[in-house]
Amino acid sequence: MVRLQGKIAIITGGAGGIGQAAARQFAAEGARVVLVDREEAALQSIVGSIGEDKASYVVADVTQPEQAQGYVKAAVERWGGVDILLANAGIEGAVSPITDYAIDTFDQVLAVNVRGVWLGLKYVIPAMRERGSGSIVITSSTAGIGGTAGMSAYVTSKHAVIGMMRTAALECAPLGIRVNTVNPAPIETRMMRSLEEMRVAAEDSSEATIERTKLAFEARIPLQRYGDPEEVAKLMLFLASDDSSFCTGGVYMVDGGRSAGNT
Ligand SMILES: NC(=O)c1ccc[n+]([C@@H]2O[C@H](COP(=O)([O-])OP(=O)(O)OC[C@H]3O[C@@H](n4cnc5c(N)ncnc54)[C@H](O)[C@@H]3O)[C@@H](O)[C@H]2O)c1
Repeated sequence: MVRLQGKIAIITGGAGGIGQAAARQFAAEGARVVLVDREEAALQSIVGSIGEDKASYVVADVTQPEQAQGYVKAAVERWGGVDILLANAGIEGAVSPITDYAIDTFDQVLAVNVRGVWLGLKYVIPAMRERGSGSIVITSSTAGIGGTAGMSAYVTSKHAVIGMMRTAALECAPLGIRVNTVNPAPIETRMMRSLEEMRVAAEDSSEATIERTKLAFEARIPLQRYGDPEEVAKLMLFLASDDSSFCTGGVYMVDGGRSAGNT
């Protein structure tokens, strides 16, 4: 028995590491997926490899209201409705102390990671309400439950979506729509490569290398490694599916034990 038979899922950040892993698993479990991202070439190739009978894409900037409305409309027109939103598009911003952090970068991170998620909820909830059910999964982070020096905008944004999720879960429960966050520790995607490079640059020391920086990140994870995008996607699949029918308003860690200690 496949777990998302007949379901229609919108996945933002669908061209990225975690988004595309989720798209492949959701499609393999019977869903029709609509991938949303700014990167058209990547979207085209991922949709091609999943198959156009199961997947479509919309090029959109999640921070723009009319484009957020547009991807919901496109999903309804192409596949007939929306059952699942994986609000996953995100950017890391800079690695810099607050005193030096560029104001534009702060605004940009909040725009994508918070406003972009909120706009997704704003336009998808009416479409789900029409169907009388739905599951919304928001990608937060271990940075959503604890601080990290140098990452004020990202940490702020990932905490913010937990508050947003809790509010949405309360508003949506009477509509039959569940809302949860998935909170990964470092995962093997472009985003961690970028963060490792920025950390090395911020250290300004010949001792700092990408390899050492990665080892330092891994040392803080009890399982001593980064996660794979597929390991995150499996939790997203659970929360998207009816297997999690009693789960709403929850913060779900997928972090190799990172949040169990206080290091
Ligand atoms: N990789 C990690 O270690 C990690 C850990 C915890 C949480 N996360 C979160 O997981 C999510 C996915 O990240 P990833 O690791 O797959 O990184 P990624 O960079 O591979 O994917 C992010 C995707 O979001 C897209 N995107 C960015 N801004 C957008 C916008 N304005 N409109 C539309 N699309 C936009 C990018 O084009 C990219 O394809 C993000 O929300 C990220 O914060 C990642």
